[in-house]
Amino acid sequence: MRTLIANGTIVTAEGSYEADVLVDGETIAQIGRNLAAAGVTADETIDASGKYVIPGAIDVHTHMELPFGGTFAKDTFETGTRAAAFGGTTCIVDFAVQPRGGSLREGLDTWHAKAEGNAVVDYGFHMIMSDVNDATLAEMDQLVAEGVPDFKLFTAYPGVFYSDDGAIFRAMQQTAKNGGLIMMHAENGLAIDVVAAQYAASGKTDPYYHGVVRYPIFEGEATNRVIRLAEAAGVPVYIVHLSARDALDQVRAARDRGAMAFAETCPQYLFLSLDDLGNGFEGAKFVCSPPLRPKDHQEDLWTGLLKDDLQVVSTDHCPFDFHGQKELGRGDFRKIPNGLPGVEERVDLMHDGGVVAGRISRERWVELVSTAPAKLFGMYPRKGTIAVGSDADIVIYDPNAKHVLSAATHHMAVDYSCYEGREVQGIAETVLSRGTVLVRNREWVGPKGHGRFVKRRTADFARRA
Ligand code: URP
Ligand code: ZN
Ligand code: ZN
Repeated sequence: MRTLIANGTIVTAEGSYEADVLVDGETIAQIGRNLAAAGVTADETIDASGKYVIPGAIDVHTHMELPFGGTFAKDTFETGTRAAAFGGTTCIVDFAVQPRGGSLREGLDTWHAKAEGNAVVDYGFHMIMSDVNDATLAEMDQLVAEGVPDFKLFTAYPGVFYSDDGAIFRAMQQTAKNGGLIMMHAENGLAIDVVAAQYAASGKTDPYYHGVVRYPIFEGEATNRVIRLAEAAGVPVYIVHLSARDALDQVRAARDRGAMAFAETCPQYLFLSLDDLGNGFEGAKFVCSPPLRPKDHQEDLWTGLLKDDLQVVSTDHCPFDFHGQKELGRGDFRKIPNGLPGVEERVDLMHDGGVVAGRISRERWVELVSTAPAKLFGMYPRKGTIAVGSDADIVIYDPNAKHVLSAATHHMAVDYSCYEGREVQGIAETVLSRGTVLVRNREWVGPKGHGRFVKRRTADFARRA
């Protein structure tokens, strides 16, 4: 099957230009002007006049079906990746979880079983390490060889995913040898639990206090600590879901001294704030960790994106229904399942709030949501760009179309939107994954279970000799 995408403006991280794209099978075969006039034939021609032709976006932080907070994240690989595709995302990297006391293999096999035959866009896995011991350290090398080269550890969530500094350091030493990447959820969970217990004991139990007790300085402290540990181990470290100025300051300082430190932020930290947690129990819709911060942190994060102290915008998509799931925490904010939906909304929010608002260029937009994640997570140039030989993961994006974000129209399997009623400019009109059209003019036309596991390389981009 040959598809010609004609008359569009190709936007990549490197630049923008007018050209046609010929897709042959699963990959991009040719790029050039007026290909049809030059004799190129195709089975189908998609007219992209007035539209951007961008590489499919890549979301390197999702949690489909995550067991967490006494329940499960609501999106399955089927519903979550379908929603992702509607939002212009053609590849996700989800977090497989090592069960406490179990092996990494067990966790990875479980996640393969959840995704295979169900995901409609391509997917990879990171591994959440819940137990660091001799056996799991040895397993890490095997996972790297299988294309799962990154490991997430937590200084947060004592009793759940928390690892102490010794365990983190051992995992870092192992990863320094096997070529992988360490991903850190950096908040001081032990200190947070002290403050949270004090607030709860004094009757301050509303969702708002979730945002109060997790001080920004607790994120700053943990971020500095894990970067320092990574420097000592000689391993690259990637700070996930960075939310606070205090943490960004530590990443910037580390990068300025030459450390292999990288970080992502998420739309919720750029567009939402502590104020959203404040409306009685409605605030539960916005409970995630790290929490939404006071509004004045947002400007610093945008500057971080501009200056490349933050390299990636991912979603941390971890949806729980307001009714029946977030409600588990009525009367005690500590029991609200942590996590927000967002896999469908990221590309449009970053286009509208970033490009249209004049904060970032359209090329930087593509870099943040597609190219940089592909590079850092071992998928470039197979994914993350429009180039001959790359996978034909392509979005025909209308930069002028306006639409309203709402639970009534979104495709995520969750009963609310964090951005309910917000108008955004820009929409993924037609979406191809490896040459197959999944979304055509906003209608789902994709086959079931189209997504394939992506075996990823180690993070060469993140490493220095
Ligand atoms: O609140 C969040 N972020 N939930 C998902 C789990 C995690 O820490 O990434
Ligand atoms: Zn986390
Ligand atoms: Zn997460």
